[in-house]
Amino acid sequence: MTAPPTLTQTLADRLPRHLAIIMDGNGRWAEERGLPRVAGHRAGADAVDRITTACRELGIGYLTLYAFSEQNWARPQAEVEALMDLLREFLLSEREELVSNDIRLRAIGRVDRLPPRVRDVLDEIIEATRGNRTMTLSLALSYGGREEIADAARLLGERIARGELAAERIDEAAIESLLPSMECGAVDLLVRTGGEQRISNFMLWGAAYAELYFSAALWPDWDAVDLFEAIAAYQQRDRRFGKVRVESPLPPPLTARANGSAAPEPRALVETWPAVALGAR
Ligand code: FPP
Repeated sequence: MTAPPTLTQTLADRLPRHLAIIMDGNGRWAEERGLPRVAGHRAGADAVDRITTACRELGIGYLTLYAFSEQNWARPQAEVEALMDLLREFLLSEREELVSNDIRLRAIGRVDRLPPRVRDVLDEIIEATRGNRTMTLSLALSYGGREEIADAARLLGERIARGELAAERIDEAAIESLLPSMECGAVDLLVRTGGEQRISNFMLWGAAYAELYFSAALWPDWDAVDLFEAIAAYQQRDRRFGKVRVESPLPPPLTARANGSAAPEPRALVETWPAVALGAR
């Protein structure tokens, strides 16, 4: 009798190549505990570490996280300052892990708006990890999908004004080539935590055909099991990209395949995942 596949093998069947996450719920997580909002962001930063490690263990090639939107500058100044301090602290504490785990760090968004104390650290780690290949972690910082497309449109307009480009030459590829968020390819799976069901100006171009997954759990509570459940849901989707069918028929449900007959719950299956990916559960 052949051994049932491990969770890692099962998930590897049809992993999203590019996973993007809207990390929502930090404030509510803190409020529920009578803590200041920044405590929620701090717990959210721990979740970033947890989920990045889990994605790398699973073999997800591209992870993009919405860490600070262009619209987030309008939050109270004290919260913005605290988020910037936290981001700097996070980057400094993650540096070695990114380097030794072969993870490349990128940033998308209007990063020139970040304070120099954050930008300096960010730039240094981006440079130090430039050659890393196992996974690419993109942080969306001061990011907005509309702003990104508008920036691309402005660049194209400038090229036309200088006589370098004919308007008729503008097509999807021309726009895409100017979108930093597209350097890692289109988004396959877009997750939003925290119970809200909206895109909030994230990856507007690249998520055009993304599968959407909304999780009620607040971001600081997200762990490897939540990630597994999101991927398991993705693996059951029929991606057609506007056509009739572009992929082979779906395999039987993931949970049924794992042991050949009964369909255990994902939370039971996850016990077979290597401990390293599960952290201290
Ligand atoms: C939304 O929570 C989340 C953010 C505004 C940014 C996400 C920030 C982190 C996960 C922590 C810092 C990031 C890194 C990369 C270190 P919210 O405050 O809108 O939550 P609410 O909807 O419950 O108020």
